[in-house]
Amino acid sequence: MTKLREIYKCNICGNIVEVLHAGVGELVCCGESMELMEEKTEDSSTEKHVPYVEKTGNGVLVKVGQNEDHPMMDNHFIEWIQVIVDGVSYRKSLKPGDKPQVLFEIKADKVEAREYCNIHGLWKS
Ligand SMILES: [Fe+2]
Repeated sequence: MTKLREIYKCNICGNIVEVLHAGVGELVCCGESMELMEEKTEDSSTEKHVPYVEKTGNGVLVKVGQNEDHPMMDNHFIEWIQVIVDGVSYRKSLKPGDKPQVLFEIKADKVEAREYCNIHGLWKS
């Protein structure tokens, strides 16, 4: 049984999927159950992952690492940043070398933000 917007990962091939419509079946990839990625909300280490949301004149800026950027190296980087506003989902994929932040040019009062680190998993604000 899945829930809307859950993120699942295949620990064999690395496929990552988001549930767009919930169903009763179990998600399977490479012959194994996919792992539900928990949305973490608190960093215990010094490296910060919880997305930091800032409203600017141009829209909603989401940063990973408020004072110091999260690494964006080939083997450790933020794969994507997503915001959900009034049920509408916006997401940008990032690659190594990019800055770990995205400016979404939208107006919003209440913003839910999520990001995915290829090593440390899924985080939300
Ligand atoms: Fe990380």
